[in-house]
Amino acid sequence: GQTLNIALLPGDGIGPEVMDVADALLEQLIQRYQLPLAATLFPWPSHAWYQQHGQMMPEDGVAQLRRFDGILLGALGDPGPLDDPERFVLSDSISLGPLLALRKQLDLWACERPARWLAGAPQYLADPRAKDVDMLVIRENSEGEYSNQGGRLRAGTADEIATQVEVFTATATERLIRHAFERAEERARLRDTPRQFKDGKAAQVCLITKRNAQPFWGDLYTETFARIAALYPEVDTHHELVDAACMKFVQSPWQFDVIVASNLHGDILTDLAAVLCGGPGLAPSANLNPADADTPALFEPVHGSAPDIAGKNLADPRATLLSLAMLLDTLAPNHPAIGNAAQHLHDLIAEDLRQPFTGTRETGQRLSQRMAAAV
Ligand code: IPM
Ligand code: MN
Repeated sequence: GQTLNIALLPGDGIGPEVMDVADALLEQLIQRYQLPLAATLFPWPSHAWYQQHGQMMPEDGVAQLRRFDGILLGALGDPGPLDDPERFVLSDSISLGPLLALRKQLDLWACERPARWLAGAPQYLADPRAKDVDMLVIRENSEGEYSNQGGRLRAGTADEIATQVEVFTATATERLIRHAFERAEERARLRDTPRQFKDGKAAQVCLITKRNAQPFWGDLYTETFARIAALYPEVDTHHELVDAACMKFVQSPWQFDVIVASNLHGDILTDLAAVLCGGPGLAPSANLNPADADTPALFEPVHGSAPDIAGKNLADPRATLLSLAMLLDTLAPNHPAIGNAAQHLHDLIAEDLRQPFTGTRETGQRLSQRMAAAV
């Protein structure tokens, strides 16, 4: 049969450390299950590549990545200190920062960030129902607040005016919301124990806006949501303003199912959701183009590059490993062995949650030994 190819992009900060662990465990899974998989490690995008070549990745970097069947990324994203002269060179030449550029150029317009509390994970909420948290945040990944239009007028003067234009298109809104309803139905179908929302419905989609202060896109989202919801009568619907949603994420997060949010709102809500499920070291994500099966999806931990703890063996690699399990899962439909490997990896991480975190490398070694010992 044909071999599937996975690109590994360690990135910056703690990215290389957590990727070392993921790379080693992936190799072990490939051997153990004789998987038709090959992994390729890339030195870009990264600041190190930038120092050498004057850009974060080669001109044809995106074209190279497009040929892979899946991409796993460690971490990227720290813009550097404000007084670093290279910061501006960097942001001019790559305009968005490498992570946002990758999402944009690969047209990965939907970002899925599951938040499920796994037994043994740290619990920051006292209410026992917090164990039932099982939500999926679907974040707009191509435009909105991240449109990167605007500028600084009279920069550095007392009269400076900075503008940051947000762009929301009907096309991007419609495809995102449709995808949220599709995923809500699918989740309800796959769940072992059915959930009950209004009128006995088994799934719910909650729309997030700030339409009381930002009515233009708020209304576009609300109208689009209503129109698409009518096509999914079996799915319960709900609308929260983003500030109220933050309160409810803490007060009663178990009430949520699928959440659909703009780029920035989704960004913020998923850091909050990560903490509900044990912290940033345990939250995986997928950047997808659900409309195009040929575009590889990019999987990455929700956390950033954490330069403050980089190189100190302090980063929890399990968010990256859970992202790897998600990646393997997307390849599983045509390759049952890959599905088994994904399940094995997921189970190993779930078992390991009861262990206190003792270091990046130690976590990798422990998982590796458990995998070798499993029958
Ligand atoms: C994330 C990160 C990125 C984002 C940063 C690094 C640009 O916070 O993936 O959530 O805001 O999308
Ligand atoms: Mn974020």
